[in-house]
Amino acid sequence: MTQTRLFRLWLVLGSVLMILVIIVYWDNVGTAHFYLHTSFSRPHPLEPRPTPGRGAERESASDAGEVLEQLLGAGPRRAAAASGTQTEAPPPPASGRPALGNMEERVRGYDWSTHDAQQSPDPDGRQAARRSVLRALCANASFVFPSKERSFDDIPNYELNHLIVDDRHGVIYCYVPKVACTNWKRVMIVLSESLLQRGAPYRDPLDIPREYVHNSSTHLTFNKFWRRYGRFSRHLMKVKLKKYTKFLFVRDPFVRLISAFRSKFELENEEFYRKFAIPMLRMYSNHTSLPASVRDAFSAGLKVSFSNFIQYLLDPHTEKLAPFNEHWRQVHRLCHPCQIDYDFVGKLETLDQDAAQLLRLLKVDKLLHFPPSYRNRTASSWEEDWFAQIPLAWRRQLYKLYEADFVLFGYPKPENLLRD
Ligand SMILES: *[C@@H]1O[C@H](CO)[C@@H](O)[C@H](O)[C@H]1NC(C)=O
Ligand SMILES: *[C@@H]1O[C@H](CO)[C@@H](O)[C@H](O)[C@H]1NC(C)=O
Ligand SMILES: *[C@@H]1O[C@H](CO)[C@@H](O)[C@H](O)[C@H]1NC(C)=O
Ligand SMILES: *[C@@H]1O[C@H](CO)[C@@H](O)[C@H](O)[C@H]1NC(C)=O
Repeated sequence: MTQTRLFRLWLVLGSVLMILVIIVYWDNVGTAHFYLHTSFSRPHPLEPRPTPGRGAERESASDAGEVLEQLLGAGPRRAAAASGTQTEAPPPPASGRPALGNMEERVRGYDWSTHDAQQSPDPDGRQAARRSVLRALCANASFVFPSKERSFDDIPNYELNHLIVDDRHGVIYCYVPKVACTNWKRVMIVLSESLLQRGAPYRDPLDIPREYVHNSSTHLTFNKFWRRYGRFSRHLMKVKLKKYTKFLFVRDPFVRLISAFRSKFELENEEFYRKFAIPMLRMYSNHTSLPASVRDAFSAGLKVSFSNFIQYLLDPHTEKLAPFNEHWRQVHRLCHPCQIDYDFVGKLETLDQDAAQLLRLLKVDKLLHFPPSYRNRTASSWEEDWFAQIPLAWRRQLYKLYEADFVLFGYPKPENLLRD
């Protein structure tokens, strides 16, 4: 009796211990220090192994690193042999580099030699200016915002879910909702051929239905690398961040908020009504019984006001429950501009010129055109009207909340809204 109970106890304890060991192991591997020190260069299959003792960096690669490299070296080569394919270069002795190289070369035939951001045409120097502002601020210790100082390895996977990768052209796009992201996602789908229509990849971005565009299973994002590449995922991300052309599009932060409000709370949106409008109406308008559906709420005249929305953003309890929804989360929290060195910073205010320039930079301007947008875009000139109903103290607090985005992306402080 007691013996079986004791046995069961040991069984449970053993299982828990195993699970803990597995968690700790994978956690360690995910951010293992030797990834930090792997200085990667384009793999040369016949590159001689660097002589040991040449700098502390290589010395610090631990034995675990060596073992892992050996394991890595065995994997893909064995697979190649099994499938009967001939590798062009003879396997070099005892170095893990080429194996990692194989992993990279296998990313769907991307030609590593042609894409060089330095050759980018930037006729009016606009990009150079935006990027140098960004770099200077990231390096400036007196300009601070939360999580500015952490390294790329310290960013958890789930915060990398806005980085969409196209391996065919070597492009990484950080999507920011309310900044033409539907159309840029469409462009990424066409480039990466990640979605088929009757067996053939889409060629024209505008052919892709909206509901497919925003389905996250359509896109390869960094947060999915872990499942795909396991322990090599961080390393692979860093290789791609180094080699690929990275871009994002930004917009005046206050105008983006108005745009978010208009599309999620002025139009009938069941999900946003249930998740956000109901709590806002309860907390900030004293409504107790609210209809279950957005249609009923709208017909009863129950709508979140812009002022409710701002109050929600400023409420210290809001982010205790969950981080801001992506439609109003700060761009620097979505795209990590001090950890990722973007090659191209587009702005919605200059969308047409920036889109044309970016497609030339990516060398895909012959392949597709950026879709023109006919939707009712929120104009910067509406800002004063929208904020007229917001108390001055709230506007100032709101500016503080989004200040890093204003400064990083070169948007002037909206003095007219922040003065008495
Ligand atoms: C760093 O930032 C501070 C405050 O934002 C600014 O006053 C200063 O001029 C900046 N320094 C440099 C070197 O850009
Ligand atoms: C997203 O796409 C996947 C696979 O195509 C599908 O199974 C899923 O239902 C889609 N999700 C939504 C919300 O449409
Ligand atoms: C909601 O009710 C509380 C107390 O019942 C009151 O202090 C507050 O002013 C009310 N708020 C609004 C927006 O009516
Ligand atoms: C655009 O949106 C504004 C404000 O939401 C509205 O007043 C206007 O009628 C809209 N214009 C069109 C053409 O839909």
